Amino acid sequence: MRWRDKCILAELGFSSDTWGEVVVVFYSESKVVGLMPLGLKLTENCTLTGRLYSGSRLYNHITSTKITELKCKVCVTQDPLLFYTAVFEKSRGAEIFAREECPREHCDMCITGLCRFHSKGEVIDLKIEVEEYVLCRDMPRVFTRATAAIIEALVWLTKLPHAECKDLSVVLERVEFLVRVVEKSSQRKLYKELAEFIHSRALELVSEIESSRCRSRD
Ligand SMILES: Cc1cc2nc3c(=O)[nH]c(=O)nc-3n(C[C@H](O)[C@H](O)[C@H](O)COP(=O)(O)O)c2cc1C
Repeated sequence: MRWRDKCILAELGFSSDTWGEVVVVFYSESKVVGLMPLGLKLTENCTLTGRLYSGSRLYNHITSTKITELKCKVCVTQDPLLFYTAVFEKSRGAEIFAREECPREHCDMCITGLCRFHSKGEVIDLKIEVEEYVLCRDMPRVFTRATAAIIEALVWLTKLPHAECKDLSVVLERVEFLVRVVEKSSQRKLYKELAEFIHSRALELVSEIESSRCRSRD
């Protein structure tokens, strides 16, 4: 996807050295079959690459069906609510992206393309060939610590189910630290609610994991 012989994705902030965090929706026969936050890097010929770790529903779908490619839509956004929806409310997220066009109220930009999968042990490498992009905003947004902290807290929350038993309390402390960053840097009620929900879900997960796979032998 080039414009005046430059890769437009680089102009839009994607790079080869830093993960760009986005929400990606995967389609099969026009139906949403996967929706999740993912990190993507810019690679050769203006493509995007990422990694799918074992444990997610999409990872299981790909390994069980042996599909090698899916159409996808990459939503570029700083809205922590959309990241939250992509983790906790996937059916609602699927409704938002069910129609063909880019949901302008949620995404600053949508990139559509074909995503190819390549299994490599515990990880599936993915590469997106961009077909089209739609810009929904032309005004820049200021960086906020609160939105970054909510998204970072979601990252650690989604790592919890796969964390080693000895690391559970460290991960929980990180989530708690990030919740405090949200509280200190924003008075927005919605952000406070999202942070509190992430914290309570993290506490629940830790207690579930501790009483199942991390139960110490008496
Ligand atoms: C900001 C952010 C970035 C993430 N990046 C990745 C990634 O690059 N690869 C991955 O496999 N999971 C990543 N995750 C975790 C998945 O999004 C999470 O495991 C998935 O939503 C779980 O979906 P499921 O409940 O349908 O299994 C990321 C999570 C967040 C919040």
